[in-house]
Amino acid sequence: MQELTLAFPRGPVTTKVFSGAGMFVRAAGFIAATWPGRRVAAIADAAVAALYGADLIRACEAGGLSARLFTFPPGEASKCRAWKERIEDEMFAAGFGRDSVVAALGGGVTGDLAGFIAATFCRGVPYVQIPTTVLAMADSSIGGKTGLDVPAGKNLIGAFHQPGAVFMDPGLLASLPLREVRAGLVEVVKHALIRSRELFTEIGDGLPALLAPDARPDAFGRLLLRSCAIKAEIVAADETEGGLRRILNFGHTAGHALEALSGWELLHGEAVALGIRAALDLSVECAGLAPGEAAAAAALLDALGLPSRHDFHIPAAADLMRADKKARGGRVLFVLLEAIGRAGERIAPVPDDALRRALAAIGGRC
Ligand SMILES: NC(=O)c1ccc[n+]([C@@H]2O[C@H](COP(=O)([O-])OP(=O)(O)OC[C@H]3O[C@@H](n4cnc5c(N)ncnc54)[C@H](O)[C@@H]3O)[C@@H](O)[C@H]2O)c1
Ligand SMILES: [Zn+2]
Repeated sequence: MQELTLAFPRGPVTTKVFSGAGMFVRAAGFIAATWPGRRVAAIADAAVAALYGADLIRACEAGGLSARLFTFPPGEASKCRAWKERIEDEMFAAGFGRDSVVAALGGGVTGDLAGFIAATFCRGVPYVQIPTTVLAMADSSIGGKTGLDVPAGKNLIGAFHQPGAVFMDPGLLASLPLREVRAGLVEVVKHALIRSRELFTEIGDGLPALLAPDARPDAFGRLLLRSCAIKAEIVAADETEGGLRRILNFGHTAGHALEALSGWELLHGEAVALGIRAALDLSVECAGLAPGEAAAAAALLDALGLPSRHDFHIPAAADLMRADKKARGGRVLFVLLEAIGRAGERIAPVPDDALRRALAAIGGRC
């Protein structure tokens, strides 16, 4: 068991990250001690509920808590208003009120949806994150961003709501499909590229173990905590995304556009891997990143088995990037790397011709 305390200036509570075996019992103990007498609304997608829902409910009940599981169909399509309403109504029907605490058990979809429900249910109730994917353990469970998708775009409705604690057991990754493991590791690579050369080296060294099912939990422990610490440090410095936090968007400008254009055929991490490759080229051209460093970063993505090309229409991608909520006045802004482990804090508009070349290099057509 390792415990990491992440302090956020605006957050009502310090976020604690516990990792290791016995996690469900520990989570139940934390909830009972922190919010005595509260009822636990555990929210999970149906696949995760089938794997781990009973373990969580049993641990809560053994800890003297009243707990109930609420489920929704797995997948990004459920991160929508309709499922938020439906779960809220089911919670009211089951007698949940201001005395609730939400437990978000699952990947980033569950964390965003359940976190947003917690942010607004009876004007806000506390919640804990229990991430079960690499992406959620390394990234989405940390930082307090919650929300859902609407027809106008991804993550456009939401709230900042910090979880009281984050509980992670890399042992739960044993059941995660390898494609999801590879895609989730992209966020760890992203954290390394923007902030830590040491973590970058560690990922490369640990690769065989990270991708081997039986060795996975051990190999992931340290890496995930390091990844959380990096994200937390950036978020703590800029909790509501005024400046520094934007570097977390590295690889996501093009990544989000490709994810949407693929009709969600590309996993988030796969799309971001392509977006990182484009951002690396732009960093060489516009931010002085050494070509050898860009090549080393791209080689790590290759070694992870992530796509290097995808067929898409460049003008359509550019339109989506200009419409992104992080674009300013129609200019496409990119986070660029100055070196491995160091992102430039100034988010610069990139010249159209450089953007076109970078997108063509990952398979874009005019
Ligand atoms: N809030 C943030 O800061 C933030 C950051 C990054 C990403 N996100 C969001 O995260 C979402 C993506 O998260 P994700 O990749 O975890 O997707 P996800 O939650 O859909 O999980 C992926 C799939 O894995 C299954 N699964 C989850 N855990 C499992 C396990 N242990 N064993 C077997 N199967 C398991 C799920 O049922 C699902 O089918 C996106 O909606 C993205 O916008 C949010
Ligand atoms: Zn991401």
